[in-house]
Parts: sequence; structure tokens; C-alpha cells
Amino acid sequence: DWTAANVIDEQVELIREQIGDARAICGLSGGVDSAVAAALVQRAIGDRLTCVYVDHGLMRQDESAQIEKAFGESTGGARLVMVDAREDFLNALAGVTDPEAKRKIIGERFIRTFEKAQADIIAESADDPNAPEVRFLVQGTLYPDVVESGGGDGTANIKSHHNVGGLPDDIEFELCEPLRALFKDEVRAVGSELGLPDEIVWRQPFPGPGLGIRIIGEVTAERLDLLRRADAIVRAEMTAAGLDRQIWQCPVVLLADVRSVGVQGDGRTYGHPVVLRPVTSEDAMTADWARLSSDLLARISNRITNEVDGVNRVVLDVTSKPPGTIEWE
Ligand code: XMP
Repeated sequence: DWTAANVIDEQVELIREQIGDARAICGLSGGVDSAVAAALVQRAIGDRLTCVYVDHGLMRQDESAQIEKAFGESTGGARLVMVDAREDFLNALAGVTDPEAKRKIIGERFIRTFEKAQADIIAESADDPNAPEVRFLVQGTLYPDVVESGGGDGTANIKSHHNVGGLPDDIEFELCEPLRALFKDEVRAVGSELGLPDEIVWRQPFPGPGLGIRIIGEVTAERLDLLRRADAIVRAEMTAAGLDRQIWQCPVVLLADVRSVGVQGDGRTYGHPVVLRPVTSEDAMTADWARLSSDLLARISNRITNEVDGVNRVVLDVTSKPPGTIEWE
């Protein structure tokens, strides 16, 4: 019988077998997947787990602070290390426009950052000859991530998810991925059963590579700032409209290499368009574009063009998946 409680018992047992007496680090993204993976591993190995949150500078407005706060409130005292890697990621992405290249670079930077965190943890216990080795990296990889990254079973590579196909070849961690067989709705059920707060369990998906794959063109600090401001308006309006649970997610995409002419006040503008990509879905394997009300769309469009200098056009993506994917890159 599939029940969340059974999955928890089974996975805790498997994690104990896999990790044994060693220590592990868990890459935490703030989303439900990595939070549930961390909670399972904590249940299995207790304080031998250290969670690592990487601020790669590709997060949305105020997000890193919110994640730190939610983590403190929701975990039974698991240890969290916050790493500021903003400059590192931005430098690595300079000049890069190809979507798969971006994904691979981000995947690699994540691993290099985890390796640094691992070295720090090892250094802390350098005086203790009995300190268990830090060998495992816990990830919240789901079944659809594996399938769409070309799971090694002959399926096509649609896009390299940062924690699967985007991993570097020379990774020395052993991976612990307790959610690898699960879909998102199942992960949410497991998260609830584990007692995680609704705020985390029902958080809309946000991709590991963050806004880096929502800027079509090179990722720069200025472009990130522009996208962050447009995205914050969309999220606020969606929440105010009470749609957070009905909508799977609503990526906002900055067409950074496209410009169009506009007029505001009595001046000409030559700015960038942003795309709204609201979708409904069960598991992200397929999706439909969400029929948002025209009032809501009008409000979002007005606010973005009035409040975000540099964006002078808002367009709506009305493509299902397939043929479109949810994210543009
Ligand atoms: P696509 O664009 O493939 O997205 O239709 C399906 C779902 O996966 C999310 N996504 C990712 N999540 N790392 C993640 O953690 C990634 O590299 C990644 N790429 C896409 C996307 O937001 C959607 O929910």
C-alpha cells in the first residue's frame, strides 16, 4: 500500500543502510523537495546531517532571508550553513547564453560550493580522530527530474536538471536521493506526514538554477535586478488573487536580448518584454497554460510597466507542455 508513512519508514531504513556511520550534507534550496529529503535524512542520522543553502544570486526578491527563517522554524534543530556564492556564480555565467551551458555551469558551481562546505565541516572536527567521514550529498531529486534529464534508460534529454544531468563528471560525493522514485504530490504528502509546515509543503516549484534560466540571454546583475522586480509583482498579485494553490507556478521570463518601442508619458521607451508563464499541472511532466482572469492580467501588466523601469511590455505564454516546457530554458 502506498502511504506516506510507509514511504517514510522504508526510506529512513534505506538511508541508514546507505550512510551507515558517516556524515552527510544536504543541499537545501528552500523548496519542498530538498526540505523533505533533509527531514528524512535527519530522522535517519540525526545531527550527522548538515544542511547547506547556497545563495547563488539567482533567487527571487527576499527569498534567501525567508528560507533561512522558515528553516529555523521548521526543523528540529538541524544545522544550517548559509553560503554566499553570488559573485562566484555570476562570474561563471558571464558571457554564457546557451541554456544547457548555463545549466551545466550552475550544476557544477553547486557541487564546487558543496565541496567547500564539506572541507569546512571536516576542518571543524580535525581534532577528533573518531569524527565520521563526510562523504554523502543528499539531494531532493524527484522522478520527473531523472526522466527529463535523460535518466540513463534511453529516454531523451529534454533539459539537464541542475542536480541530475547538470552534475560535473568528477563529483566525489556519493549521492543520497531518497525521493528519486516520487512525484511532487507524493513528496508533499510525505512532507505533511513529517510535520513540515504548509508554507514549505505547498511552496510552488522553483528551479534550482533559479532566475538564471529565466533570463533569455546573458545573465547579469542588472538583468537579474529587473527580473526580480517584475517577478515580485507577479507573485504578490497571484497571492492576492488567492491562486497560489491552483496555479502550479508562474515563471516570469525576461527577454533580455529583445527590445521593443514603447511610449510612456510623452516619452519614447526602448525596453525589454517580460513573459508571464502561468501553468497548471499535476506533476510537471505535462502542463496546461492557466486561464488567468483578464482583470488579473491587466493589473499585473499595469504594475510591471509602471513600476519596473526598463520593462515596457508584458506578454502571455499560451503554450501547453508539450509542446512547450514550463521553463523557457
Ligand atoms: P520544465 O521546464 O522541464 O520544468 O517543463 C518542469 C519542472 O521542473 C522545474 N525545473 C527544475 N527544477 N532544477 C530543478 O530543481 C532544474 O534544473 C529544473 N529545471 C526545471 C520547473 O520549474 C518545473 O516545475
